[in-house]
Formats: sequence, C-alpha cells, structure tokens
Amino acid sequence: LFSAVEMAPRDPILGLNEQFAADTNPNKVNLGVGVYFDDNGKLPLLQCVQAAEKTMMDKPTARGYLPIDGIAAYDAAVKGLVFGADSEPVKSGRVATVQAIGGTGGLKIGADFLKKVSPTAQVLISDPSWENHRALFTNAGFEVGTYAYYDAENRGVNFDGMLASLNAAAPGTIVVLHACCHNPTGYDITAAQWEQVIAAVKAKGLTPFLDMAYQGFGHGIAEDGAVIGKFVAAGLNFFVSTSFSKSFSLYGERVGGLSVLCADKAEADRVLSQLKIVIRTNYSNPPTHGGAVVAAVLNNPELRALWEKELGEMRVRIKAMRQKLVDGLKAAGVKQDMSFITSQIGMFSYSGLSKDQMVRLRSEFGVYGTDTGRMCVAALNSKNIDYVCKAIAQVV
Ligand code: LMR
Repeated sequence: LFSAVEMAPRDPILGLNEQFAADTNPNKVNLGVGVYFDDNGKLPLLQCVQAAEKTMMDKPTARGYLPIDGIAAYDAAVKGLVFGADSEPVKSGRVATVQAIGGTGGLKIGADFLKKVSPTAQVLISDPSWENHRALFTNAGFEVGTYAYYDAENRGVNFDGMLASLNAAAPGTIVVLHACCHNPTGYDITAAQWEQVIAAVKAKGLTPFLDMAYQGFGHGIAEDGAVIGKFVAAGLNFFVSTSFSKSFSLYGERVGGLSVLCADKAEADRVLSQLKIVIRTNYSNPPTHGGAVVAAVLNNPELRALWEKELGEMRVRIKAMRQKLVDGLKAAGVKQDMSFITSQIGMFSYSGLSKDQMVRLRSEFGVYGTDTGRMCVAALNSKNIDYVCKAIAQVV
C-alpha cells in the first residue's frame, strides 16, 4: 500500500524547528519560525494567562464536548476584538464566528467553506506570502495565484503592481490579504493604500479573506485592527481569520477563529450552519483549554488591560531589537544600508539575503531563518544579537 509513497519535503518553516533541535552548535539561534521570545530567550507565559488559569484551577470543571462552533463567550470575544463589541456588524448579528484550531484552522475552515460556495474561484495570495497560504488553499482544491506585493529593489511594497493585479482579477476571485504585519516581508500598506485596495476589491467583485495573525504587533491592537472597519464601511462581505498564538503566547494551545461578515443575520445563521458542517467533518469540535483562557482574559476588564500591557511590551521590545540589529550589523562591518529593517513591522524582517546566504548562516553559524531570507526579529535578544550580526556580516 505504501511502497510508492514518496518522501515529502520538510515544511519550509516548521521543518526548520526539527533541524534546529538536531543542531549541536551551542551558539545556535532560531530566527526561523514566527515565535516571540523574551530578552532571556524564553517563551513567555503571560501573566494574564497565568491569572486566568489560576482562577480556572481554583474551580476545576469537567471537560464535556464543546459546541461545534466553540465556546460562546470566546466567539463573542473574538467578534468584539475583530469588529468592536458595539459595532453595527456585531450588534445586528451579521457576523458568523467560530472557534478554530489556531489561525491556520480558521483559514482552513474558511477555505473548505469557500470551496463549496465558490468552487471554481481562483485564490490570490501576495507575492511572497506565508508559505502555508499556498499549500492550504491548494489542498482545499483551489488554483492559487499571486498578486504583486514585494518590491525588492525599493525595499517596500510594489503598490502599483498590487493594484494592477487586483484590477486584473476575475470577479469572485478570493484575495488573501494580511491585515497587518505582513508575513514574510514586514512591509504593510498605508491606510490610504488600503482604501484603494478596498475600492478595487469592491469594483471587481473580489472576495476578501483577511488573515489577522499578528494583531497588536504592529502599532497597537486597535490600530492594527482598523483595517477591518474600512472593509465594513465599504459594505463588503468578507472573511477574517484570527490567531492568538502570538498575541497570547499560546502557540501550543491552537487558539484561533474564523469570522465571516454576512449581509444580515439570517445569512450569518446559514453561513454558521455550513461552517459547523466543515468543523464537524474535520475534527468535530474544538478543544477547551486555550479558548477558555482567552475568553476569560478578553471578557474580564482587568485581565484584558493586563494583556494589552503585556502585548505592548512585546511590541516595544521587537521594535528595539530592530534598531539594535541595524546598529549591530553596521558595527559588525556590513557596508550596505540595513536601515530598512526599522521600517518593517511585526515579527519578521525580510532581510534580502539569498537562499545560499541563509543556508550558510545555518550550516556555518547555527543561525536559522527561512530560505527566502525571512528572519524572526522577535527571537533576537541582548545576548544573541551580536553573534547574529557577526554571522550575517560573514555571509553578506
Ligand atoms: C510563521 O510564519 O513562522 C508562523 O506563522 C508559524 C507557522 O505556523 O508557520
């Protein structure tokens, strides 16, 4: 049965973790996967999470099955975070939200649902995009193409190219957009450019699918989420996937969601019923713990304020590491201007290093980034930064 099964390639991001774990270099640094580490190189366990967990432990509860669409208080909290608790879409009941197995799970539920309602649509992802976008939508049965995004020469976004791609797309095309903190480039479009994107999406009748995995890592929770309000104001129906892996440092709990903004409540009820079928036939219903923790934090004003503070500290530390990286590279002898790193935002820097250079960084120095040149600046700290800068200086 399995004799003809071929060996699949390693995952371009998570596969690096396996390689990193096997690397015996004592100085190794993992800038591959998008994970935030504190200045001691430790994965943080947020205080707001610990407080919520303590309350839960003090009053332990049995673990029955959750509803197919997840914990009601969790779904309500996700809606509130994404659209605003008092926003018209939430108040009118026209958002269908389900708890998902991480942001990836939210994307997959949306992709499987879209395959039913829009089976022949093409999917467009940014060029480049998170590697798993292409794989995920391809596996859901879609043909996946790209819209122009990265401008390597000018280190930024090729916005004219992006608009041209969207304007050339066939009506009904599903466009996957990074709501903030573009992964992998770290370059976001401006608020004014979002307006133009939204106008193009509307004029061409495209279906927007916003991936919001890094809310709070750009300029702030509200600032990063502001793009959602623009899509609402334009009268569009759209998808938003949410992840709390990074913003709650709950990677292993797989806590995320999918929200679909519909025309009215009746439509949202019908869409929700279909999302539930997708979930039921994939994994039946979501797990309890992570969703319960996030709901407890988001629905409690004190814990929510603590979360915002802790997330803000992560954001500020990442920004500081960007500046240290620029300064450190200069001090290590890198001649080219690397100041573009501070104009990027979120967890990643698209460094411009070639695949060969990234492979050398890994094999000679134990510094891991993706083959595309993406480095997770959220994993830099005051102890490893000099080593990383010297290693980069050796390969450029
Ligand atoms: C990343 O891009 O590194 C993260 O989103 C983690 C992942 O699942 O790939």
